[in-house]
This record gives sequence, C-alpha cells and structure tokens, in this order.
Amino acid sequence: MQRKWWMSAIGYQIYPRTFYDSNNDGIGDLQGIIQKLDYIRALGVNLIWIGPFYKSPMDDNGYDVSNYFDVDPVFGTLDDARELISEAHKRDIKVVLDLVLNHTSDEHAWFAESRSSLDNPKRDYYIWQKGKLDKDGKLVPPNNWGSFFEGSAWNYDEQSKEFYMKIFSNKMPDLNWDNPKLREEMYHVARYWLDMGVDGFRVDAIAHLARDLSFEDSELPLNIHGVAPDWSKFSNRKELFTYINEFHEKVLSHYDCMTVGEVGGGAKIEAGLGYAAYDAKAFNMAFNFDHCWETSQVVDPTTKEIKNITNVKNLKRIFNYWIEGMEDKGWLPQYWLNHDHPRVISQYGDPKNYHRESGTMLGTVLLTLPGTPFIYNGEEIGMSNVDYTDVNDFNDVWVKNNIKKLLEHETMDSIMDKLKRTSRDNARTPMQWSDKKYAGFSTVLPIQKEVSNYIDVNVKKQESDDKSILNTYRKLAHLRRFGDYSDVLTYGKFKLINPDDENVFAYERYDSNKKLIIITNFRSFTVPFDYQKDVRIVYSNYDRTDKNVTQLKPFEALILEKIYD
Ligand code: GLC
Ligand code: CA
Repeated sequence: MQRKWWMSAIGYQIYPRTFYDSNNDGIGDLQGIIQKLDYIRALGVNLIWIGPFYKSPMDDNGYDVSNYFDVDPVFGTLDDARELISEAHKRDIKVVLDLVLNHTSDEHAWFAESRSSLDNPKRDYYIWQKGKLDKDGKLVPPNNWGSFFEGSAWNYDEQSKEFYMKIFSNKMPDLNWDNPKLREEMYHVARYWLDMGVDGFRVDAIAHLARDLSFEDSELPLNIHGVAPDWSKFSNRKELFTYINEFHEKVLSHYDCMTVGEVGGGAKIEAGLGYAAYDAKAFNMAFNFDHCWETSQVVDPTTKEIKNITNVKNLKRIFNYWIEGMEDKGWLPQYWLNHDHPRVISQYGDPKNYHRESGTMLGTVLLTLPGTPFIYNGEEIGMSNVDYTDVNDFNDVWVKNNIKKLLEHETMDSIMDKLKRTSRDNARTPMQWSDKKYAGFSTVLPIQKEVSNYIDVNVKKQESDDKSILNTYRKLAHLRRFGDYSDVLTYGKFKLINPDDENVFAYERYDSNKKLIIITNFRSFTVPFDYQKDVRIVYSNYDRTDKNVTQLKPFEALILEKIYD
C-alpha cells in the first residue's frame, strides 16, 4: 500500500444550505463557509466535502443540477467558489465537491433538448421507454420498478409521450450512462472543477449508474405505492464498474485527487473492492450505509416515549465486516452520519440525559477507527434531531411527496414520531453557532427551522468549556493527526475485544510499536466490563484515574495505551 495524503486526513462534511448565512437572506452560502474556515481548521480538520452548490431549482436541495458549470445564486458566484478553494488551501484544507453523476434536474438544458423530440441528438442522454396499456386500456409505466423518493421509477412526459426513468424525484431524470457521449459530458464536468483546483469528489449515488436494460418487471411484492422497491434493478450492477474504470482512466488518474463514492445500502465486500480496492482503478473509498440504522425502537411503558436501543453487537459486526474485508486491499471512510441520516447523538447517544458523555463517546469511536473519518457539521457539538411539532416544518422532498399517501395508512402522530427519528431533515437544520436568535446562523428566518436546544447546545458555549464535545473532537482530531499516536491511529491494525458483549464497543489499534485500547459504553447505564492490564490512560471522558476497568459509567469512553517494558 502506498501512503496517500487522504489516508491521514480528517474530513468534515458541510451542508451549505444551513451551515452559515453570510448575507442574511436565510440561506447558507459560500462566503459563509469562507468565514468559518478558521473554525474548521481549529477543529483539526484538513479536508472539507461541500454539498452541491451548482445551479439548481432545489427540488432536492441542489442534488438536482441544472448547470454543472455555475454556482447557484443563493450560494454565491463562481468567484466565491474560487475564493473558497484558495482560502481553504491557504489553511492546508483540501476541498472536495459533491459530484452528481446519476441524474440532472429536469430543468437542465440537456433534458429540455432530450424531451423535445424522439430523434433529438440528446434523446439518449436520458432513459426513455414507451408505456404499457393495463387491462383497462390505461397507459402505465413500462415496468413495476419503484423509486426511492416517490411511487414509480418512471414519469410520463407529455411532450414526447414516453416515460423517462427517475429513481429519485420526478424532477431528477436519470442519465443514460450506457451512452458514451453522455459519459464524456460528465468527464468534462469533473475536469472543469479539478482544473479549477478542487482536490476531489464525493461521488453521489454512484451505485445506480447501471440499470437492468431488459426493463423487465420485478418479482418482488408491490408496496403501498403499487410498485416494487427492487433496488437490485439499478444498484451495484456489474456494468457500472466499467463506467467507473473508464472515468478513472480518462479523468481521475490524471490528477492527485481523492474520490469517495456513495454506495449506500446493500453492497457486499466484493462490490466494495470493485469501488475502492487499491488496484481497482476506481475510487479511493466508498461510503456504505450499513452501520447507520442499528437501533430497535421500544416504547417506554410509563412515559410512552419511543426510545432507540442500539444493537451494539450488530454495529460491531458491521464495522468489523468492512474493516476485515478491506484490510490490506483498500481504504475505508468512516462516518456516523451525513445529510441523509438522523443525528447520531439521537440515534446512538442520549442527547437529553447524557449529552456531553454520549457525544464525546461517539467522537472517540469515529476518530479512532481505521480509515479516514468524516465529521458531519454539527456533530462536533452534539446537535440532535428536530423537535418540530408541525409536519410543514419538514422540507425534504421525500416528506413532501409521500405525506398524503402515508396519511391514508397512519395517523399524523405516528408519522411525526417516525419523521423525528428518521427524516433527512434531522441533519439539515441550521448549524448552532450561538444562543442568538436563529442559532446565530442568520439574522432572518432560516430556510429550515432550527432545533430549539440551540440555546444550550452551540459552538460559542462549547468553545469555552474544556470538556465539551467540541473541545473533545478537537483534542481527538489532533491526537489522530499529530504526535505519538498518529501513526498507529492512521495505519495501525484493528481487532475487536469481546465481540459478543452486548453493550460495549471495544477494540485495539496496534502496530509493531504501540497498542491502543479503545473502550466505549453505548448504554445510558453503568455496565460491567473487565479490562485490567498494564496500561496508561490516554483519554477518558469521565476523568478516570483508575486503570483497572471493572465497570463503565453511562457512555463512558476510554483510550488506553498498553505499556511495554
Ligand atoms: C444521494 C444524496 C442525497 C440525494 C440523492 C440523490 O443519496 O446523498 O441527498 O437526495 O443522492 O441525488
Ligand atoms: Ca445567504
């Protein structure tokens, strides 16, 4: 394995829309990110992944791109983008953009051309099929495939009287990667930004570029929308690796860039290696979602509150599966959440009763696992899920598209409970900079409603508290990047301790010089755990002095170092 700069990096994901609003119009922007670069640097981060800021009608907050070569005016201008890249570089921070290859907006000029007639030269930039007649003679989509965001994977186009494929929203027609001309167009987009100086890409929805081109019906049972949620028809299919290899050969291999593909759910090691083995000629890393939903919901008999119980054993099994499977063969990214997931402190911690303890415990795991860690903005202060009481406060296209249908099957209360646990909006609320109105994100009403705990949970307050989640992330990020433990934390091997323990996630990181032992309690109560060896304490979120571990306090986290004579 050849060592590369991105292996020892710590990444930070910025959701531009709600990160910081520099001109007080309620929407975060590129100048806002520039103003916070010193904050990011102080965190110990040297790589930022910025969500899409291309021109977009914002049906899916910028993942629906209408022009890849321009910046959407709500975020700023191309000059702001250039300034952001150069200001980040001045601070030794690399910049990674979100590259959306699977689809465009329906307001992209290509789509306007493509739908204009059956023989338009750009017709084959997208995926068109004729509809079918059902038994009553009604025109229906070409097959029963479902989409991720709403109903069918197809939408009827009045203009050209055929259906286009769209596995996300109706306003996000899928690109046809089977067409070499289209592929060249997308390579051109990638080169444009790399030539401008960006250091790589998080490649959006990469698992879906190839489809089952027979377009035959799925055999899976239909869901409440009357479609088959059969992702195998357009996920991780083998043809897609030829596209990625070509992208690598024609574009990526010519730059010293870093790429991390978003692979999502359902991928196995074999696919992981196809995406990100050292010799795969594909990407440098691949994000999967396997560890993001390891909770069971239980109802507290007295308060009737729904609680998440973390499936710690599964969580460990999943991390171990990927770490073992990729060992010596490829590099992993590590993360707790991104803009599509609930807040991790709400998912696996306890923001109400053990905010600091659980936030620092989760940070300890993230920053000591093998692979490149990515912190999601707000995670470093323990931002939690939304406390909305009105369903209209949710903005996500998925909620908007599905709420009517859901109400036919469920009460509003139960829908709200679910959304507050699972909605993508949970991670998209304004960054909590201070206890000022609107969390110090803007001086006007933000585009997305803030979480009301910003009064207590904010950057300003945590900066002055040495033991805060923020200062712990800083400390651990520095521990990982600089000094005596940097090598073992970055390149050391990984071994689970007590994989069958139901409460504690514990592991070793070791190389020929050093051994660190990381012990973390995922429960909001004291649990027994025995670890009594010759060690020194490197970090403890409870200021522990007793090196003989027999039990762990709620969400206790420890980093120990083995003492060799
Ligand atoms: C990815 C993005 C998500 C987006 C989808 C479609 O999953 O992370 O936010 O909605 O792709 O582009
Ligand atoms: Ca703004």
